[in-house]
Amino acid sequence: MELGWESFLGLLQKRRSIRKFKHQEVDQSLIEKILEAGMLAPSGKNRQNWRFFVVQGQKRNEYLKYSQKTWINIKDILKDRLKPSLYEFTERFFYTLGDAPVLIFCYSQNSPDEKYLTSIGSVYMAVENINLACVSLGLGCCTMGAPLEIKAEVDQFLGVDQREDYKAGELQLLCGLAVGWPDHSPPMAPRQTEDRIHWLNE
Ligand SMILES: Cc1cc2nc3c(=O)[nH]c(=O)nc-3n(C[C@H](O)[C@H](O)[C@H](O)COP(=O)(O)O)c2cc1C
Repeated sequence: MELGWESFLGLLQKRRSIRKFKHQEVDQSLIEKILEAGMLAPSGKNRQNWRFFVVQGQKRNEYLKYSQKTWINIKDILKDRLKPSLYEFTERFFYTLGDAPVLIFCYSQNSPDEKYLTSIGSVYMAVENINLACVSLGLGCCTMGAPLEIKAEVDQFLGVDQREDYKAGELQLLCGLAVGWPDHSPPMAPRQTEDRIHWLNE
């Protein structure tokens, strides 16, 4: 059965980075669903080299001080780029993570059997699946590269640094995901087409 272009495009167009969430828990079964969607993604050599660390409850609250730290590293770059209201909103997001009840940290398990970039790309395929699964369930999600600013501290915070694959230098943090019930409806961020596609027909 075909999904149909309109339904598919509608799903893609509905997705937004959500940075403000309701004070409402997300059922474990829904978290499992979005992870299931993530793990349906294609991956180089079908290695399924994604590793997800799901953080909730008190541990999630503890992460806020790390998130605040990442803001210190990023704020000067954003000051010039964002208009003041958006800058303030973003600052609040870093301090509260928009009250998202669920954080998912996405790692790549890299192996000498696979090209490094292929391993990274495979995990991001899963990340987008998770983003879209959230839309389909009415959940909101924001992909965050910010945790990379303090990578080693996040590894420690999650206890990932105690794993054998980490000690072997194979595990690498790629991003965090804030997940919860959306409490705002941001407009679509503008899309650009200039210089994005090159056709070579000869
Ligand atoms: C790899 C990656 C890293 C990102 N890092 C952050 C982040 O650290 N903080 C944040 O608020 N948004 C982050 N975003 C969200 C982007 O800002 C957002 O996708 C972009 O502005 C387009 O908006 P949209 O997702 O609503 O279409 C990230 C997105 C991606 C794909």
